[in-house]
Amino acid sequence: MGDQVVLRFSELTKQFPGVIAVQNASLEIKAGEIHSIVGGNGAGKSTLMKMLSGVYPYDSYSGTIELMGEKCQFKNILEAQSKGIVMIPQDLNMANELTVAENLFMGNYPNKRGIIDYYTMYSEAQKIIDEFDLNVDPLTKVKEIGIAQKQLIIIARAMHYDVKVLLLDEPTATLSDKECKILFEKVRELKKKNIACIYISHRLEEVKEISDVITVMRDGRIVGTAPNSEMDEKRIVSLMVGRDVDEVYPEHDRTPGEVILSVRNVTIKDPKVPTKKIVDNVSFELRKGEILSMYGLVGAGRTETILAMLGAFKGPVECEMELKGEPVRIKSPSDAVKHKIGFLPEDRKREGVIETTSVGNNFPPFTRQYGS
Ligand SMILES: Nc1ncnc2c1ncn2[C@@H]1O[C@H](COP(=O)(O)OP(=O)(O)OP(=O)(O)O)[C@@H](O)[C@H]1O
Ligand SMILES: [Mg+2]
Repeated sequence: MGDQVVLRFSELTKQFPGVIAVQNASLEIKAGEIHSIVGGNGAGKSTLMKMLSGVYPYDSYSGTIELMGEKCQFKNILEAQSKGIVMIPQDLNMANELTVAENLFMGNYPNKRGIIDYYTMYSEAQKIIDEFDLNVDPLTKVKEIGIAQKQLIIIARAMHYDVKVLLLDEPTATLSDKECKILFEKVRELKKKNIACIYISHRLEEVKEISDVITVMRDGRIVGTAPNSEMDEKRIVSLMVGRDVDEVYPEHDRTPGEVILSVRNVTIKDPKVPTKKIVDNVSFELRKGEILSMYGLVGAGRTETILAMLGAFKGPVECEMELKGEPVRIKSPSDAVKHKIGFLPEDRKREGVIETTSVGNNFPPFTRQYGS
């Protein structure tokens, strides 16, 4: 690993109405370094990445960015990419209706006299796919492939731009363990090619595993940077919350109260294959003051179980519920809201808010059908 600084930013500050999302952030990133940034929700990590990658143009924030010693003023993402800063965003934006190959070459299509040269595009795409072991047909539409493969496609695409700094904003949040391993292997290969990665994650064990350097953000500020070996979990958490913590996961004395919710015999059939059960006869109880975790791999049926309870699963569902001992029938999310059952979905951007309307309209009474 070289000691050469590839990316240096100083005093970066970005404001939104009513909030300073990033305040006086300065940092140096070295070639071939895997540099993690951690911090609680809203700490400013994504905003910082968006400044570095041209999502926010240079005149919308203050401070300076230097790449290989040269001052950068990116007007847009394409400019940042052409200089070698590429971001894999937290909310993946790909053209789902287009093919893998079309997405790989987006903005940069091989052409003959202005007309897309499909033959070259697909054969070049196949080469990239082979090089990256993507195991996907370049003619497949992107909507048909999983998130892990989408990320790898974006990384592969980044390689076109002679990437110097790759920004990964929570890439593993929705990946299975196996997919995480593949992604980590790729990131380590990039490191060997002397590419620097800025890696954002909420999973501290992952951060400890992969990072050379760890930086912590809190309330828009960088509050600590140190080599991985000097940042144990306790120090990271103290920096994140802004005070010393005796124990990262303190033992609580818990005496659960009476049963509030009882869910019985949840069975969900695959809407496409009615003989296949996505969830098979699951029952559980929730007590007052209790936090109940559902653990399992991607595809285990956790989300579907919750959707079934909310009357939001579009397909054949059996689900019996009792609230405080009284049987309830919840046929739609608005029934759930009436019974004071709230829901925070996993895909916050698509399902958590209606982005095209006002903050006020996003507050209850919230009676829209989930997912529609
Ligand atoms: N487009 C925007 N408009 C208004 N406020 C924003 C916008 N983007 C971010 N913010 C605010 O800026 C602050 C920093 O947000 P940011 O998304 O950068 O945090 P984060 O560290 O990435 O959080 P998370 O871990 O939840 O992804 C938050 O208070 C957020 O509400
Ligand atoms: Mg973020």
